[in-house]
Amino acid sequence: MLTLGIETSCDETSVALVDSGREIRSNVILSQAIHGKFGGVVPEVASREHVKTIIPIYRQALEEAKVDPADIQLVAATMGPGLVGPLLVGLSFAKGMAWARDLPFVGVNHMEGHLAANLLEQPDLDDNHLTLIVSGGHTMLVHVKSFAEYEILGRTVDDAAGEAFDKVAKIMGLGYPGGAAIDKLAKGGDPRFVAFPRAMRKDGYQFSFSGLKTAVSLHWNKLSGEEQQQQAADIAASFQDAVVDVLVEKTVRAAMDTRVTDVTISGGVAANSRLRTVMAEKLKRAGKRFFYPSMSLCTDNAAMIAAAGYFRYKKSGPTEFVIDAVPYLPLE
Ligand code: KG4
Ligand code: ZN
Repeated sequence: MLTLGIETSCDETSVALVDSGREIRSNVILSQAIHGKFGGVVPEVASREHVKTIIPIYRQALEEAKVDPADIQLVAATMGPGLVGPLLVGLSFAKGMAWARDLPFVGVNHMEGHLAANLLEQPDLDDNHLTLIVSGGHTMLVHVKSFAEYEILGRTVDDAAGEAFDKVAKIMGLGYPGGAAIDKLAKGGDPRFVAFPRAMRKDGYQFSFSGLKTAVSLHWNKLSGEEQQQQAADIAASFQDAVVDVLVEKTVRAAMDTRVTDVTISGGVAANSRLRTVMAEKLKRAGKRFFYPSMSLCTDNAAMIAAAGYFRYKKSGPTEFVIDAVPYLPLE
């Protein structure tokens, strides 16, 4: 079943064509560079950019997939969580497309989209598994009992993991978004250079990254310009290690407690090289299998939305056209 996927929940305009939730025919992603100069996403600017680019991106996705619009059998779009203006652009486009062509339409939860990136690529993954979703807006440890049956074990009480990366990158003058820049810089640094705090490391499944961000800020601002230059890689590595340490500790513990055999990570921070390496090492030692998405499926993209939309459609049929964008849509 050829599914058209649309993602516009934040600052990526993305359109994809995916066959039966597993085979990517095209996945065009445009990251809106304009927000860099503001140091964060400006919702109104993002909405306008989506309006400008959604049709050209759709055409490019058709062209790359060598598909005719008449071949599309299902339309899926992110309905939340996300920024309401940007969500409405993709959702309206998708609903219009489905209505005009008399196709079934599915509204997709963006977080279900992230976790579906693994379903898309790993046909072998056990239905019952544990997943860590780590993005710019969310940090969630979820026991997936089967598709669409979720128990949220923990989430962040303040900043999301990606948000912490972005704030620390901003403090260190590395631009926005800064996760990938910190990852790169940390490769030449010593993760034991500064012992930054690891909040609630041994307690439960909740996360907190706001104190860590403050600790990095206080440390950084005490340094002279020259010291900042000399120590940047070590500080980036120490910060990254503190985040990774907590994410891995809780995920491994949850994997043991839920007795799953399979564990996945997804979301933008799942692209982090240190998280992938340490998680793989620790889960292997715990006797668990570990899966993570390809780089292009970690950060926001429409292929994961098409996959999630297809699995949702198979499970519970189409979504009513009357649904609206829901900025705080929960996963459960
Ligand atoms: O999933 P995503 O594209 O958007 C949301 O749904 O929020 O995630 C974006 C986040 C940003 O905070 C970005 O800094 C972070 O993912 N990110 C990374 C890396 N690549 C992207 N964080 C750490 N290491 C990376 N390599
Ligand atoms: Zn996302």
